[in-house]
Amino acid sequence: MCGQLRSEHIGETVALNGWVQRKRNLGGLIFVDLRDKTGLVQIVFDKDISAEALYTSDKIRSEYVIGIKGIIKERESKNSDLPSGDIEVFVEKLIIYSEADTPPIYIKDNDDVAESLRLKYRYLDLRKPTMQKNMAFRHKITQLTRRFFDEEGYIDVETPMLIKPTPEGARDYLVPSRVNPGNFYALPQSPQIYKQLLMLTGLEKYYQIIKCFRDEDLRADRQPEFTQIDMEMSFVDVDDVIEINERYLKKLFNEVKGIDLELPLTRLSYSEAMERYGSDKPDIRFGFELKCLNDIVASCNFKVFRNVLEDKGDIRGINVKGCSDQISRKNIDKLQDYIKTYGAKGLAWIRVNESEIQSPISKFFTEEEMSMIIQRFEAQPGDLILIIGDKPAVVFDSLGHLRNEVARQLGILNDNEYKLLWVTDFPLLEYDEEEKRYTSVHHAFTAPKDEDLELLQSAPQKVRAKAYDIILNGVEIGGGSIRIHNSRLQKKIFDAIGLSDEEAERKFGFFLEAFKYGAPPHGGLAYGLDRLVMLLSGNANIREVIAFPKTQNAICLLSGAPGIAEDNQLEELGIKLVEKE
Ligand code: AMO
Ligand code: AMP
Repeated sequence: MCGQLRSEHIGETVALNGWVQRKRNLGGLIFVDLRDKTGLVQIVFDKDISAEALYTSDKIRSEYVIGIKGIIKERESKNSDLPSGDIEVFVEKLIIYSEADTPPIYIKDNDDVAESLRLKYRYLDLRKPTMQKNMAFRHKITQLTRRFFDEEGYIDVETPMLIKPTPEGARDYLVPSRVNPGNFYALPQSPQIYKQLLMLTGLEKYYQIIKCFRDEDLRADRQPEFTQIDMEMSFVDVDDVIEINERYLKKLFNEVKGIDLELPLTRLSYSEAMERYGSDKPDIRFGFELKCLNDIVASCNFKVFRNVLEDKGDIRGINVKGCSDQISRKNIDKLQDYIKTYGAKGLAWIRVNESEIQSPISKFFTEEEMSMIIQRFEAQPGDLILIIGDKPAVVFDSLGHLRNEVARQLGILNDNEYKLLWVTDFPLLEYDEEEKRYTSVHHAFTAPKDEDLELLQSAPQKVRAKAYDIILNGVEIGGGSIRIHNSRLQKKIFDAIGLSDEEAERKFGFFLEAFKYGAPPHGGLAYGLDRLVMLLSGNANIREVIAFPKTQNAICLLSGAPGIAEDNQLEELGIKLVEKE
């Protein structure tokens, strides 16, 4: 193939097929860069080899699809940028398979073209070497995933796409049923219910690489339809699920990155992750860990902090170690605006210089208080301390994001460094202020930790779940839990989240009934395949590793989906459209 030809092939005759990358006409000689999926090779039309081919080649333009037969010769002016640059192919026979209009985007990597244009002409965009590489890389990951789980005895079972709503908690995509007028299927947000039912069948080990659908606000790492590597296993507890998945990750990193992961991976409890990083998906490639100042500032003269503490708030901060001189006053003002998007009201700062402390709040602190703050952060000259006081949730959220943002701005994040960790022991329930009730953090079938069961009535917010997320460089690449396999416990959880018998029956009746006939303890996990491929291929955007992705508005720019339905289709479905306000 084009990209595989080398000097050792000199003298051989080859047949090549591909696309014309570009053509140069040097009078009696025509040079063409021919491209196939392996790369480029230079082919030459010369009247001494074939006058007919030279004559026909005059018609060739970029992106014409051609086939040639020719002889490989050593190249006079070698091109060291091209793997096949030592040779060229002199054409004896040429076939033009198809002509091509001038393409609306160049078939070239790193071409500064709007993403919307790339998505509209995705079939051209996918011709680019990097995109071909991304597709092949994704394939490699799915294949090794299949091999791994197959060898471990996992059975690949397909689960249905037209289902009743799943418990994942995002908005469903609905599909109307023609033969059951007025009724709708939901597209699965995950195969959760079915993989649990498979455990009830005695299958014991299940996996699937499967599309999931969620109608939620989209971001750089979210798509309305995305792919999960989904697995479930029976007769297990948390450590068993983590153990096999660590072996999977070890194989994955070894085969696709040549990285030898050290097992076991780091584990942090949810509360430790929040306390140290202000996030349940911390990027641990860098420090800047959170420290609490509540005890030190309790009786200081800064009214803002005292008021925060009186309202049961927290004063916490990070030490941007050794980077004070890289963050200007103007920068700090910008960071102040940045944290406001997470609800924080202000950002106090302390610069630790060689001979003095510089800070807008130093006047409110005694020398002793200030030196205790410095000590708490183990701060040294050259450090910059950033402090936020607010409701605990706001402090964690804004400092967690600030930590990442500062690291990003400082350029200290190394794309080739991979830091994985498990976050475990998530809270089982959280209080929903709007609905005035507890809701499940993961989903309602997640098992509580045995030792926390007794808190279910007295202190529901303190109950921890047998739930775990796997985090790679600050991105949640997967999550799962041990499930409830006991109907009495399930009922208790439904009670705790205020789900009435009637509502539980209506939503999950068929599922709950299945547990009456003998259910093994079971649990599992699902990875976001797109996110995994994105991170391992060094991309910052999930769309780069999906062949035909959708925009932030859930539109496919290539096909124009979603589109309007024909009147007769709607009529058949018994659907009438009304103007939305
Ligand atoms: P969860 O909802 O955490 O768990 O999803 C698992 C993983 O899927 C990825 N993911 C997404 N990727 C791209 N676009 C999206 N919109 C999107 N939403 C989620 C994330 C996430 O970690 N059934 C449970 C798993 C289980 O309990 O076994 C589930 O779906 O990387
Ligand atoms: P002021 O005296 O109002 O100028 O505030 C002094 C400093 O405290 C400024 O840098 C403010 O940004 C900061 N500040 C105000 N409110 C808070 C808060 N809730 N948390 C942290 N810093 C704050």
